Amino acid sequence: MLVATWLLAAASLASAIPKWDMENGFLVDLLNEDKFEVENVLKSPTRFKDLPPILKKPKSHERSLKEGEIPQYVIDYAPFVHLYSEERYLPYDIKQYVEHFHAEFKNGTTVPGTENGQLNITNLGSLPKMSGVYLTADEDFDADPDWITGIKNKPNLVNGEIKDAPATLIIVDKGNGWVDAFWFYFYSFNLGPFVMGSGPYGNHVGDWEHSLVRFYKGKPVIVWMSAHGGGGAYYYKHLEKYELDPKHPIIFSARGTHANYVSVGTHPHDLPYEILCDFTDRGPLWNPTRNYLGYTYDGKFVYPAENNTNAKHRGREVTYGNWLTFTGHWGDKQLESSDPRQSYSFIGGHKYIDGPKGPLKKNLLRIVPCERHKWWNFWNGCNVRENIKWGIGVESEGYNCGNVFANVRPKWLRMILQQITWGGGFCFFVDLIYG
Ligand SMILES: *[C@@H]1O[C@H](CO)[C@@H](O)[C@H](O)[C@H]1NC(C)=O
Ligand SMILES: *[C@@H]1O[C@H](CO)[C@@H](O)[C@H](O)[C@H]1NC(C)=O
Ligand SMILES: *[C@@H]1O[C@H](CO)[C@@H](O)[C@H](O)[C@H]1NC(C)=O
Repeated sequence: MLVATWLLAAASLASAIPKWDMENGFLVDLLNEDKFEVENVLKSPTRFKDLPPILKKPKSHERSLKEGEIPQYVIDYAPFVHLYSEERYLPYDIKQYVEHFHAEFKNGTTVPGTENGQLNITNLGSLPKMSGVYLTADEDFDADPDWITGIKNKPNLVNGEIKDAPATLIIVDKGNGWVDAFWFYFYSFNLGPFVMGSGPYGNHVGDWEHSLVRFYKGKPVIVWMSAHGGGGAYYYKHLEKYELDPKHPIIFSARGTHANYVSVGTHPHDLPYEILCDFTDRGPLWNPTRNYLGYTYDGKFVYPAENNTNAKHRGREVTYGNWLTFTGHWGDKQLESSDPRQSYSFIGGHKYIDGPKGPLKKNLLRIVPCERHKWWNFWNGCNVRENIKWGIGVESEGYNCGNVFANVRPKWLRMILQQITWGGGFCFFVDLIYG
């Protein structure tokens, strides 16, 4: 059984991680204990048996980190990201990015002082504090200039570094030993999905994606990753790890949309029956710890990293200035219907939509690991999964919900059951129960 062997492999990797030092107040090797698991799926993944609560705004005596402190464990357990092998829109440096823009109000008037290339990363934070401000490209982004495609920003094949595109790390102390590490991934362009062969729909200039690793006393507990406004939460110990350094979990960035998943293959989302799908594969592996901007955030202020773990980038946060406080959109406003680049379809919506808001608008003070929830999820559930959600289709490396039948004998019956549930509609129901 592929799945069973994989889980065994993951379990043995986890046990290979050395025990933690009691003297520093860390708990002994919690990875093999069940303490971190909530008792059933209907309970909130914020109340762990025997562990203190996670706090939105801890008081100073409840904090474990200093302002601007980047703890080594955040780096050690950072997710690595497989980009799509033929990705056309790669990560980009926000500093270079903003130099291709001026800012406009919602009504189309240019924000004074941003015309003629005057906008840069350090004065971004002094733009008017309104949500209706849009970074607006000075040239036609639709022609795929290099600053849109990030064509040169492929990860180094040896160490995974992207030399010219830093990730952004924002650490939020959640009190009582809990720490959230948010890794933000910036791409200049989001190429939206195709719907039944037509599209793309939902393109936008500027694309902020992110993952969250939630720690308790220096141990990773939960990993959440963004996908189309929703996302997936998993227990850290169940995720695939990087072979050469098995502390790092692996996530996969989908073609064009850069939505993040834990497995390879086709991932249907938002609409049923594979109408709308993302695709992931084992393309080049990005190690964001090689090049990142580090900050801590307390809900009110952002503090630049005192001591970035990369000596060559130490102090760079200060030269980037107060950019995180920019409250507007990181890309053009939805194109007018009269614009020849714009189009509309009943199923897919507009071809070009608004650029996104920045990292501080992504609910960093969250208590549940999920950023937000869909309208139908009125109980605000955020299910932390124990099982990898496999992709479907020929690229998939797993059986998806078919692994519920892993113990079925004889083998031929199991294979039939797995085949008929492999990505079928039935999976949706199995998934609800089995998670
Ligand atoms: C557009 O909006 C801005 C900010 O609200 C305002 O200052 C400006 O005068 C407006 N321009 C026009 C042409 O209405
Ligand atoms: C950004 O532009 C302002 C003027 O608008 C200038 O004073 C500042 O030095 C520039 N910063 C950088 C990093 O170029
Ligand atoms: C910064 O980190 C380096 C190595 O990680 C260490 O040698 C140095 O003392 C640290 N500096 C400060 C000011 O904490």
